[in-house]
Amino acid sequence: MSIYLDSSATTAPRPEVIELVTEILTSGWGNPSSLHSWGERGAMALEKARWQVADLINASSPNSIIFTSGGTESDNLAIFGITSLCNTPQHIIISSVEHSAIERPVQFLEKQGWHITRLPVNREGRVNPHDLQKALLPNTVLVSIIYGQSEVGTIQPIKKLVEVTKKHSQALFHTDAVQMVGRLPVDVEVLQVDLLSLSGHKFYGIQGSGALYVKQGVKLNSLLYGGGQENNLRSGTQGIPAIASLGLASSLAQKDMESEAMRLRELKNYFIELILTKCPYLTLTGDLFHRLPHHASFLINLPQEGITGRKIVRDLSLKGIGISAGSACSSGKTLPSPVLLAMGYSEKEAIKGIRFSFDRNTTKSDLDFTINTLTILLDREIGGEN
Ligand SMILES: Cc1ncc(COP(=O)(O)O)c(C=O)c1O
Repeated sequence: MSIYLDSSATTAPRPEVIELVTEILTSGWGNPSSLHSWGERGAMALEKARWQVADLINASSPNSIIFTSGGTESDNLAIFGITSLCNTPQHIIISSVEHSAIERPVQFLEKQGWHITRLPVNREGRVNPHDLQKALLPNTVLVSIIYGQSEVGTIQPIKKLVEVTKKHSQALFHTDAVQMVGRLPVDVEVLQVDLLSLSGHKFYGIQGSGALYVKQGVKLNSLLYGGGQENNLRSGTQGIPAIASLGLASSLAQKDMESEAMRLRELKNYFIELILTKCPYLTLTGDLFHRLPHHASFLINLPQEGITGRKIVRDLSLKGIGISAGSACSSGKTLPSPVLLAMGYSEKEAIKGIRFSFDRNTTKSDLDFTINTLTILLDREIGGEN
């Protein structure tokens, strides 16, 4: 048995994507900056992908798309690209449930003297726009709020948060939309964000592909200096196979987004309802309604300290099922998930999170099998048999 339920971590590239990448690696590998025909072919693939990504997020100009190596780099470029324009440390606002690709760069800035506000979230992981309004200061240069939370699936009211930011400050607005783009419609014109991060391997492109959307007119510094590629914002020869995979994945996502989001939402609702009935000691984490369509996450409400999310991940893996846990491990000790702590869970609870995330290959019978396996496993744990 082999059931992969970890698509929030990464997805298997679509067959069409593998075909395209193979073709590029075989005959389209020219450096897009070269002037000969090999280079021209690379440049054509690059610009096609830029249009495809721009189209997916409704960016008015393909020049707004800066290709990067993925979500982490896009987030870092947004944070450091903006803050490095300031001569002295200023103020940034993020949420308390950001991915580490935002939280860690901001921690670095904090050490350099920047003032950071981490907005609180409610028990479902949502930011309150009033809290953002209160936190804005005259020297706030950037607000960065995650769009779809990777660990608990909660979707933030980004449009409203941008409105509040623009109404009450001069700050730029960035969103980490890595879990949203390719899964649900994301329209940068409607949202009015200044910067937006996305990552190709989260929606069937290949790993090492990503982009930062930069609204026309928004200025930022590059993190890499060299040949001046990507409009001087990301020097280095572009990785055409990865970028083309992102382009094609964007077009394909756009084509079946509505039907696939609906199919996944139905699967997710079915899964949540059934698992909570069969395993009454699980509770849903995150927001039931404002939720990524492919995402179901839970807390294991059992007092036994040994029953951690990581243990369940390992046990299910032995049965051929791939899921993930929010908590990390340091020196052999399971650390509580910062996201669950921010949502008000205790340290003891915050090591007991598990996440199931579905993709285009997930079927109802995969979910039935997973629920049965998990039920048997947890019942055994409660009974003390291992
Ligand atoms: C919300 C979010 N942001 C950023 C990242 C990092 O993206 P990448 O793996 O492409 O660097 C991830 C990956 O899990 C993510 O879920």
